[in-house]
Amino acid sequence: MQQRTDSFGVGLMYTAVSPGRVNLIGEHTDYSFGYVMPMAVNLHTRIEGDAFEHVELYSEHFEETRFFKLDRIKKEGSWMDYVRAIYWVLAEEGLTPKGIKGRIGGNLPVDSGLSSSASFELAIMALLNEIYGLGLSPQKMALLAQRAENEFIGVPCGIMDQFIIAMGKEGHAMFLDTETLEHEYVPIPEDIQVLVFHTGVRRTLTGSAYADRRKMVVEVLRRIGRESSKCVEERDLRGLPGIYRRRFGYIIRENRRVVMARDALKSGDMETFGRILTEAHLDIARNYGVSCGELDYIVRKAVEFGAYGARLTGAGFGGAAIAVVDRAKGKEIGDRLLLEYSRAFRWKARYFLVEASQGVEVFRG
Ligand code: GLA
Repeated sequence: MQQRTDSFGVGLMYTAVSPGRVNLIGEHTDYSFGYVMPMAVNLHTRIEGDAFEHVELYSEHFEETRFFKLDRIKKEGSWMDYVRAIYWVLAEEGLTPKGIKGRIGGNLPVDSGLSSSASFELAIMALLNEIYGLGLSPQKMALLAQRAENEFIGVPCGIMDQFIIAMGKEGHAMFLDTETLEHEYVPIPEDIQVLVFHTGVRRTLTGSAYADRRKMVVEVLRRIGRESSKCVEERDLRGLPGIYRRRFGYIIRENRRVVMARDALKSGDMETFGRILTEAHLDIARNYGVSCGELDYIVRKAVEFGAYGARLTGAGFGGAAIAVVDRAKGKEIGDRLLLEYSRAFRWKARYFLVEASQGVEVFRG
């Protein structure tokens, strides 16, 4: 077979296409092993490449080529660390694939609350899995990518992002029990679209504030002697400090809402589905303390402009909100939001109308 090459002389034998994600509902519930309902989206990281002795990758986003040798896996503080993280975790599993040469592109915006880092990590892992026949299942890849993020990168995230990016299904959201990893695909009605509005607010606090929330939640579980937030009830929190009760109370209600939202989506009851989403936002903003004025503004306006419901998505502290809208009204609502938002705030915002996509895939040739 004749090998295609690009202007950089890179052999383009394999292409990994890895989606971003939005979370419809179930926010900050995955690190207490509760329920979530994300979907993979049709904005992708795309890596074209082939086997090589070392690792050499060109990033279209950063407009640079980076390189490392496989006998020295050490962090350097650049985007290449995500690739090193994957080699590190594979080595922990006793897997030692050789290198890769290629280029990274795609249309998934970096730093927009759509989980571009997990998408990138899974693109690399899936590519290595295919090129070197590592025999990893999508679920195993998700678990390994989460470990890479937790232990090599040092971000104490839950399993949600990696799981949906590895296992997403076109046209469907996924109801996931993050304790057992049992999951169910829930079709998204065809006349519905998800609008992702990126506030442009930089999530500078995310690192420490996310880790603080996680620490507190783990501490509550330890004190009440439970493994998962799914089976905790308000009365189990009696005697705990007020702030613990307030934060964990949100998680208890959010778990219930994910189940109700799944049922509403299954029966196509978009009014109820949307109402639950908006309720979830008000609760997380009031009681979990991870929203901000810009996100609250978008949620309020989106509903005012005719969305079924809206809420922040992902870790919060800035980043993105979603609104669930009729397909016919998507663009009109997005444009209006952008206009009003840019009058009210000085951040450079943007929005995307997204569809539920397949999880990471690798194509040959
Ligand atoms: C980030 C983490 C996820 C999850 C969300 C909040 O996206 O990576 O594991 O905790 O925040 O729901």
